[in-house]
Amino acid sequence: MTLRDKQLPAFFRKFTFPVAFIFYLISGQVVAQPATVIPIESQQNALAIGIDAEKRAGVIYFGAKLNNASEYQHAPAMYRQGDDYSGILHSAYTPSGSRNLVEPAIWVTHADGNTSLDLQYVSHQVQKTDNNVSTTSILLRDPVYGLEVTLYYKVYAQENVIEQWSVIKNNEKGNVTLHKYASANLYLKASEYYLKHYHGDWAKEMKTEEIRLTPGIKVLDTKLGTRANLYQPPTFMVSLDKAASETEGRVLYGSVEWSGNFRIDLEVDPLNNLRVIAGINPHASTYTLAKGQEFTTPMFVYTYSEHGKGEASRNMHRWARKYKIMQGNGSRLTLLNNWEATYFDFNETKLAELIKDTKKLGVDMFLLDDGWFANKYPRNSDNAGLGDWQENVKKLPHGIGYLVKEAQNNQVKFGIWVEPEMVNPKSELYEKHPDWIIRQPGRSEHLYRNQLVLDLSNPKVQDFVFGVLDNILTKNPGVAFFKWDCNAVIYNAYSSYLKDKQSHLYVEYVRGLYKVLQRFRAKYPELPMMLCSGGGGRVDYGALQYFTEFWLSDNTDPLERIFIQWEYSYFFPAISHDNHVTDWGKQPIKFRTDVAMMGKLGFDIVVSELKAEDLKFCQDAVSTYKSISDVVWHGDLYRLANPRENDFASLMYVNEAKNRAVMFNYLVSNRYGAGSGSPVKLGGLEPAKKYQVKEINLYPGTKTDITGETSYSGNYLMTVGYNPMVNARRASVILEITEAK
Ligand code: GLA
Repeated sequence: MTLRDKQLPAFFRKFTFPVAFIFYLISGQVVAQPATVIPIESQQNALAIGIDAEKRAGVIYFGAKLNNASEYQHAPAMYRQGDDYSGILHSAYTPSGSRNLVEPAIWVTHADGNTSLDLQYVSHQVQKTDNNVSTTSILLRDPVYGLEVTLYYKVYAQENVIEQWSVIKNNEKGNVTLHKYASANLYLKASEYYLKHYHGDWAKEMKTEEIRLTPGIKVLDTKLGTRANLYQPPTFMVSLDKAASETEGRVLYGSVEWSGNFRIDLEVDPLNNLRVIAGINPHASTYTLAKGQEFTTPMFVYTYSEHGKGEASRNMHRWARKYKIMQGNGSRLTLLNNWEATYFDFNETKLAELIKDTKKLGVDMFLLDDGWFANKYPRNSDNAGLGDWQENVKKLPHGIGYLVKEAQNNQVKFGIWVEPEMVNPKSELYEKHPDWIIRQPGRSEHLYRNQLVLDLSNPKVQDFVFGVLDNILTKNPGVAFFKWDCNAVIYNAYSSYLKDKQSHLYVEYVRGLYKVLQRFRAKYPELPMMLCSGGGGRVDYGALQYFTEFWLSDNTDPLERIFIQWEYSYFFPAISHDNHVTDWGKQPIKFRTDVAMMGKLGFDIVVSELKAEDLKFCQDAVSTYKSISDVVWHGDLYRLANPRENDFASLMYVNEAKNRAVMFNYLVSNRYGAGSGSPVKLGGLEPAKKYQVKEINLYPGTKTDITGETSYSGNYLMTVGYNPMVNARRASVILEITEAK
């Protein structure tokens, strides 16, 4: 008997193979209809899980929602892609060691040493949180070992977003070892798959590639422990059939909500279907689950659109603003930061001057950066003092309190930088608590930016890290903002606290970090906080639920920044992007400020050294920004001209009522004649409404022809478009689009 024969039910095997197979095809039984179908639907999309006669759960449909949910069951029978000998290529959570032959979602060793796992459907339920949010859970159990996995799908209907995770429960008589324990396992069908993924390094965040996936596995992962994004963020998108554009095409956006090692497997299987397995990186992270214990994976968040990348972004943004990022629909503080203005070289008098400049500029807050602490080993450069969080008495003889007061006297707020997870070997903390540091006992230390990482798996270290922030706030209740930095990766991973459970370190580190952040948020639920990690080394939705915003990159060259901000904009809303005007790059202050305005505006320049006209421009820009920030922060984003494909970048934000929009345009080429030769088609407006288009944020003394005198219908602006007239003399142009009254 051939292998093929074995796949056929006994009745058909009575005949010779070709005859049997033809009968079998005609009978329509090549792919049996699932016995039970669990539709998981948002407003536009559906993921249908089918339970077959052998009780195995598989993805039988992923795509646009059907009008009639009872029809998902017919989908599998429409495909003739070849044989799935295992019957579980489309598994909703692929187990290892039984019949599976491809990349597993879960791989375990049972209490008795056996390594096989089979998962069979037991039950499912749907829990409604409110009219928009509901969670479907599917309980699976190994019939031999009793090990259970519950798959959770939390659906945000209006936003068309799903958060998916798994809970693994050890019902065995002893310890179970988890070798791989993914959050989610998806299965997509298309003729071709185009992956857009990201990579980079310090100051080179969000470099991107869009590639066709070929059979085999493409792995996106990180093994850095902290600062996990330094090389690769846990964020990607896959277009189905062809690379999606902004307005057309089928596209899935996904991101692992985890601030540590992650791994995403994208496997084009032998049937040309795409298996996506995402979660914690199993690398060096075998996890022992004691009898009766559960392991809850982080969430994997995804959205899907049949109308291109733009809609997928807007789904993500709406979801993030409403459900994930702290105060996502709130407001943000504009600020003046002193990092690039002073680096470590400051004192009380200098800072008091900068606080006055903050007021002069018109921004909301002064943010004191690195260098304010440590006495035995003063923090005068990045090689000393980290860990010793007492004010440096030479620089700040009257403490933080004095600066908070100075800020109050100038009617601005005061924020401060911390990097509580880290330690310099030249510090008192290092001398006092060597056992709190992650490092191999028998090996020489390997430093990253002259520092080491504290062992957050240790509850004492968690107390310490919480204490760094809590002490500042207890002593200085006027502190209004934290910038939480994290500059080093984990080398020589070893925890003296975890003893014989070393392979738990990467997981427990992140759990420890989240415990601290949860404790912080329980006590200080409102305090705005910036997520920073030597630039954008740690940007993910796991961390962002505790933060109001993030620092995208230390690279603030506005030209570079256009590309970096553009790429982040696919996944993270503008209200979470902290953009500072600095002295990086050669562009004039207007260009730098215009670029920083497409997010949360901040400055990190020496205000006192600005030419009078530049200062005037900045002051005006701050008040202009205040008048448009509502649209930028809470509006819908439309990317109009991609800087990778054009001489310029163009994008706009439209408010919910569609009566106000702001369009940003930036020249990215200095070739002869570069600029916007043709009109740019706008997006998101109401076709029937009339709009005035007016150029704003002009440099003092410059004039514009775009004055808002003519009004255009939304239909015209979205069909013919509007030319922002970007060219070498008008390298950045901001247009305000307002409904004509
Ligand atoms: C990191 C941050 C910077 C700055 C420095 C201070 O590099 O990304 O913005 O805060 O640390 O040391």
